[in-house]
Amino acid sequence: MQELEPSWPGDPRRELAAGLAQPAAQIAPKFFYDRLGSALFAAICQLEEYYPTRTERAVLADCRDELATLAGTRRTLIDLGAGDCVKAERLFALLQPRRYVALDISADFLAASLARLRREHPGLLVNGYGCDFTSSWELPDEVPRAERMFLYPGSSIGNFAPDEARRFLEGLRANGEDDGQLLIGVDLVKDPATLVAAYDDELGVTAAFNRNLLLHVNRLLGCDFALGDWRHVALFDPVQSRIEMHLEALRPVTVSWNGGERQFRAGERIHTENSYKYREDDFVQLLALAGWRSVRCWTDPRRWFAVMFARAA
Ligand code: AVJ
Repeated sequence: MQELEPSWPGDPRRELAAGLAQPAAQIAPKFFYDRLGSALFAAICQLEEYYPTRTERAVLADCRDELATLAGTRRTLIDLGAGDCVKAERLFALLQPRRYVALDISADFLAASLARLRREHPGLLVNGYGCDFTSSWELPDEVPRAERMFLYPGSSIGNFAPDEARRFLEGLRANGEDDGQLLIGVDLVKDPATLVAAYDDELGVTAAFNRNLLLHVNRLLGCDFALGDWRHVALFDPVQSRIEMHLEALRPVTVSWNGGERQFRAGERIHTENSYKYREDDFVQLLALAGWRSVRCWTDPRRWFAVMFARAA
């Protein structure tokens, strides 16, 4: 893993071409986050309809004292998908980290966030890495293994299917010592209208976030998606307990790139994201299955969002 570089990690072309070639076309949600996509996500977090961000913030505000007692201070805080780093920054006063390590797929967006962070917290040790932590990863030796606290806020864990989530959480645990800790945000099942509105806001920011994926893929794969051919679709599947986002072709479309092409019928969709919603108990159990111990769970009065703390041993 390399210290920040303004690039997209690895070679995504094969992965993108394979996803587009499948009968049910798909593009992984990590491809949302080019520089503009990261900015659009930060805007989503300010929308009235997008309750997760402010609900998580409220839950964390309410559990501050207990969290401080459980977690202690002076840890190495490892922020998975740091983005604008604002969520982690709000915990600095409480947790007084010894070091802050930010990981994000969008390395150049992260670099800008960390420049700001370093200005505002001059005493803090800060490292940033552009990496795809949905594939296997290890932090470099310069990041101490002891006293790590993994921070995975915002219910980003919802992008994984439950069995993948369990494997990911196991991997996290193995990335620290027995004194490792985890602080994770989990979006909970609620009425479908509230869920769908959060992913299909009136202003159209989520639609722009979803459709911007096509512009990013055009650059990465060298293909020729036209924005006007595609509309944003968000739906809740209660059986799988997940929000799905898709891009739907408004007319017959042919997309081509060096070495391949794909035809879409009008109404055909590209699956771009799953966002799983959990029942509190099910996620506590998932953490236990992944080997995390002493799970403590806090929620808001409506039980819309949970924040969980756990120990590696
Ligand atoms: C960053 C994965 C937590 O699933 O709510 C927001 C991404 N997609 N609106 C989520 C997202 C559309 C977000 N996560």
